[in-house]
Amino acid sequence: MEITADSTSGSVNRPEAEPPIILLPLVPSAFNAVLDMRKPIIAANWKLNKGPSDTEDFIRGFESKLADFPKGVDIVLAPPFVSLVKATELLSQSRVRVSAQNMSEQDNGAYTGEISAFMLKEIFVQYVILGHSERRSIYGETDAIINAKVLKAHEVELKPIFCIGETLQEREDGKLEKVLRTQITDGLKDVTEKQMLDTVIAYEPVWAIGTGVTASPQQAQDAHAFVRSVITDLYGISVSEKVRIQYGGSVKPGNAAELLGQKDIDGALVGGAALEVSSFADLIKNGVPE
Ligand code: 13P
Repeated sequence: MEITADSTSGSVNRPEAEPPIILLPLVPSAFNAVLDMRKPIIAANWKLNKGPSDTEDFIRGFESKLADFPKGVDIVLAPPFVSLVKATELLSQSRVRVSAQNMSEQDNGAYTGEISAFMLKEIFVQYVILGHSERRSIYGETDAIINAKVLKAHEVELKPIFCIGETLQEREDGKLEKVLRTQITDGLKDVTEKQMLDTVIAYEPVWAIGTGVTASPQQAQDAHAFVRSVITDLYGISVSEKVRIQYGGSVKPGNAAELLGQKDIDGALVGGAALEVSSFADLIKNGVPE
């Protein structure tokens, strides 16, 4: 029996008496979409390091190594605000994306020292780290403030890298799941399913950030599986299985493979080890084998 696909409507014309034939949608693009369901994402959070000239030096060195990197990984650099224009200009033709480390939930007005989502869009920034534990603990950002920022980022199609994580005290007190569930539920309030698919979650246990102490692969996997289960509760399995969850906290070239090898760990948010080209490059190569 001849089956013809109508390329304009996508419908199939076939003789009436024939039994129905089910066409599986395994066209290459759909197949790749399944394989790409959770493409790893590795991001450098430079924190309060690297002005425009150090940013340029890093990017020039890093770009020269890009050909060696595996294709199946998204790479993001998050410099300080003053270096963002330099980064987006230098990376305009690159596969490397640029993220801000924070932004205001306000659009404009009397908010001295703030930067808006629209301003970040105007200079071609694509991601924004929101709710980092340093923003929460040093600058008093609450789940409600972070939620307002997440919603604002989505309004202008900036992708949030939404950070969560427990303190050592909270973990030792048996409050890990309660803390994570509250941060997720309140921080992502009113985020739609579609927006959720464009949100990256970064699980960063506060006790592992900048301390040299890394969560064991099993501890990290357990927390990631829990985070995914909360996303399942809120959005259903078809969304939660597509949401990328990064691990952050003393990720280095030497532990990246084991951490990123865990089932629910889809990348890394890296501080100290992302400040040098060679260590960030090694971390990417080790973490995401070809
Ligand atoms: P370190 O990799 O230096 O521990 O920092 C992690 C972090 O806070 C990334 O956002």
